[in-house]
Amino acid sequence: MCGIVAYVGGAAAAPVLVEGLRRLEYRGYDSAGIATLTGRTLNIRKTIGYISSLQSLLVQHPIAGTIGISHTRWATHGAVTIQNAHPHSDHSGRLALVHNGVIENYHELRGDLIEKGETFYSSTDTEVMAHLIGYFFGKNGKQGKIGLMEAIRQALGQVVGTYGIAVIHADVPGVLMGARHGSSLVLGVGNGEYLLASDTSAIVPYTHEAIYLNDRDIVCLGEGGFEVNTLTGLGSDYRITKIDFTIEDISKAEYPHYMLKEIFEQPASVSNAIRGRLSLEEATAKLGGLEASNIELRAVEHLILSGCGTAFHAGLVGKYLIESLAHIPAECEFASELRYRSLLATPSTTFVFVISQSGETADTLAALRESRRKGYRTLGICNYVASTVARESDGGVYMHAGVEIGVAATKSFTSQLTILTLISLLFGRIRRLSHTDGLRIIAELEKLPEKISQTLELHEQVRRIACKYAHAKSFLFLGRQFNYPIALEGALKLTETSYIAASGHPSAELKHGIIALVAPEIPSVFIAPEDSVLEKNLNNIQEVKARNGPVIAIGTEGNKSLARIADDVLFIPEAPEYISPILAVIPLQLLAYYIAVELGHDVDKPRNLAKSVTVE
Ligand code: F6R
Repeated sequence: MCGIVAYVGGAAAAPVLVEGLRRLEYRGYDSAGIATLTGRTLNIRKTIGYISSLQSLLVQHPIAGTIGISHTRWATHGAVTIQNAHPHSDHSGRLALVHNGVIENYHELRGDLIEKGETFYSSTDTEVMAHLIGYFFGKNGKQGKIGLMEAIRQALGQVVGTYGIAVIHADVPGVLMGARHGSSLVLGVGNGEYLLASDTSAIVPYTHEAIYLNDRDIVCLGEGGFEVNTLTGLGSDYRITKIDFTIEDISKAEYPHYMLKEIFEQPASVSNAIRGRLSLEEATAKLGGLEASNIELRAVEHLILSGCGTAFHAGLVGKYLIESLAHIPAECEFASELRYRSLLATPSTTFVFVISQSGETADTLAALRESRRKGYRTLGICNYVASTVARESDGGVYMHAGVEIGVAATKSFTSQLTILTLISLLFGRIRRLSHTDGLRIIAELEKLPEKISQTLELHEQVRRIACKYAHAKSFLFLGRQFNYPIALEGALKLTETSYIAASGHPSAELKHGIIALVAPEIPSVFIAPEDSVLEKNLNNIQEVKARNGPVIAIGTEGNKSLARIADDVLFIPEAPEYISPILAVIPLQLLAYYIAVELGHDVDKPRNLAKSVTVE
């Protein structure tokens, strides 16, 4: 949520910053801004809209300097205006600051600062930090790097909330500072140049050496190199890590949108989730990252799964997987709810799995921390190595899905489902699941990438269906058991990319109210592969057809009944019930994509959304 890029080195800062912001635009695109220093002069340019607007502004009013900070915003406090865009400054107009996160006590701090004579120009919480640092810098009377660092320390000592910040000051030329608490900040260590960014995509064109800052770290960059300390004044425990993706991995390649590229990457991303994790000899999954022995795993009597949005839907499928393959009671809860619930499960026999592509979602992190506080073993399923979820959990499983840039999550979802299948296999095999059943599951997992490729061949057919229904008023998505969460996910994908109201329901719930919506202008999408509830789904489809509702069905190859009753059918390869969600979701991802394109929406930057929601 919001993107930060900062640079100090030998090159002109503005082009590096703008290029970095373009790569982070998926984190927010309401407004953007940049500040550079030319000697002891601070230059600031801000604009509302996409990074392309900032680029145009810089063509008209260029700024020089080899040190600078920049930001792309997703509004939390204050409307989308130039005044509210970052960078923000202090009373002297010589300091510039960009910020990700939320300052919870900003009202109080702002009141105090106004009493001290400060004037505010925006309605953001960020401006409070700029004024506070400026206030201490002036008050302390200490100049230079040490003075600025001390002012930042004092100011952050008063702040309650989350932040990733980058700061420059015209009285301290050549020095760039940053700090983080609860909002990611990564330092790119280049050859005579340094970058500070909210995620690695902005850094990778310049260097593959990164330091993921820890909470309460403060970093000082400039000609003298880099220093990482804690806000309390101690040396930080940092490590230089190699970034494991290239600039090609984060380009759109031949695809018009990241979302489409990532949908088509799923045979590879699912393969990566499985690679090296299957043991034919023991007919089980090997997940060393869980950091738990078989004795500990066998003692587990209850699993809690949690996440937000698409990750929550993965958790819901996980509940069905774990109950049917591992025979362990499982529940799945929105992270935003779990964090405030009184958890009654016994900590010593319960594992909590948090699922998050980014590993930075605020509610998911809060659920993780709350579970830890109560003594539960917490495990993360996330994509970003060195993300906060990865660092704060007791163990976990990486998705290895590669960078996901499309705001609508696609490949991360199928990777999450694959990993949840592996986890279920592992737990199942130390309980009731036989060696033969374990081998059967392994064989199905191994066939999965090929079946995903076959499913992707539906894309042209899905595009035609999308054109046919793109102007529908709303959509219903219906499924049962393993595919009920897929109905929820299909509805979410369509809503967020096309702005069409869509809702997902268990098919059998139709007659308890939802059926009132069924009408010729409202299509119902049924996920009805060959499984234990196919007959029930067929009955529900008949109920919709009897009321003149158009039906699009996702079924298993060769199912003649579906072909007879549905208006449009998309056939996915035959697969066991526990695998079917991974295949069934793919035509729904494509449907959402093609409808959004048909309606002329910016698929990779859906209205009001941003990737990675780092605020509550
Ligand atoms: C939907 C979507 C969101 C995310 C949710 C959690 O397409 O992308 O619903 O799934 O914000 O994000 P992560 O997985 O990063 O925690």
